[in-house]
Amino acid sequence: MRIDNLKDRLYRGLLAAAMVALTVTGARALAQGAPTPPSQARALAIGVCGTCHGVDGNSTNPMFPRLAGQHAWYIEQQLKEFRDHTRGDPYAVAYMYGMASQLSNATIDALAQYFSHQKTGPGKPHPAAEVAAGNKIFHQGIPAQGVPACAACHGPQGLGSKMFPRLAGQHAKYIMKQLQSFQSNMRQVAIMHGVAATLHRAEMQAVADYLASLP
Ligand code: HEC
Ligand code: HEC
Repeated sequence: MRIDNLKDRLYRGLLAAAMVALTVTGARALAQGAPTPPSQARALAIGVCGTCHGVDGNSTNPMFPRLAGQHAWYIEQQLKEFRDHTRGDPYAVAYMYGMASQLSNATIDALAQYFSHQKTGPGKPHPAAEVAAGNKIFHQGIPAQGVPACAACHGPQGLGSKMFPRLAGQHAKYIMKQLQSFQSNMRQVAIMHGVAATLHRAEMQAVADYLASLP
């Protein structure tokens, strides 16, 4: 409990610092209305977003999703959903609503270009039994529970495409939390609600460990 409070305060501190940086850097980007130059997006990505997501999008803290190599279209879509308040689990509300509220479409576009072009890091080793079980779910689904193969949409290596996010190398904890949010409809996405509806916790954990182990 104490540790949670401490962590919470630390993250709030990050958020406050990032909001100040955003006001300083972001305001100018907004005022222009014209396309945001890549150099300005880079400064914003490193100085603001990088506080949590890592300057190259390869965050080390599992609370903050990796953005490196994520598809630009998907990043744009998510930022617009945070800005429109349509992606609504508690972390999204606490951390990303404020961030996205300041961003113009042009800046969102430029930030998505920046992060989608960053090199992804290596996968992280996870327990072999979990990884094997997750590999099976990812490629074959769980027919008895009506769970489709994840690979059908997210690609055989979890690399995704356009609207289907890259999952390879994403933090297991983040994946786990999103699957639970889809299941409870806290993050309302019809496709993923259907996919996650009958998944048990251990199955989510296995598939999350498998994905986090991929490069
Ligand atoms: C204070 C920390 C913090 C800062 C600064 C921050 N974010 Fe986030 N971001 C988060 C958290 C936490 C989440 C995960 C929300 C959730 O769990 O649903 C997130 C989620 C996202 C997602 C969704 C990723 C996915 O895989 O669906 C995108 C895209 C994103 N942030 C982009 C940005 C950009 C661009 C900036 C800079 C303008 C930024 N973030 C600044 C904390 C932060
Ligand atoms: C029919 C297509 C489809 C299938 C099958 C599917 N997904 Fe998805 N998934 C999507 C789409 C589309 C999104 C993006 C949702 C959005 O726009 O917010 C998504 C998003 C996700 C996310 C959130 C990623 C992020 O960065 O926040 C996770 C995690 C995920 N899927 C895991 C899985 C797993 C695990 C399986 C298999 C058990 C699976 N998906 C099967 C279509 C699919």
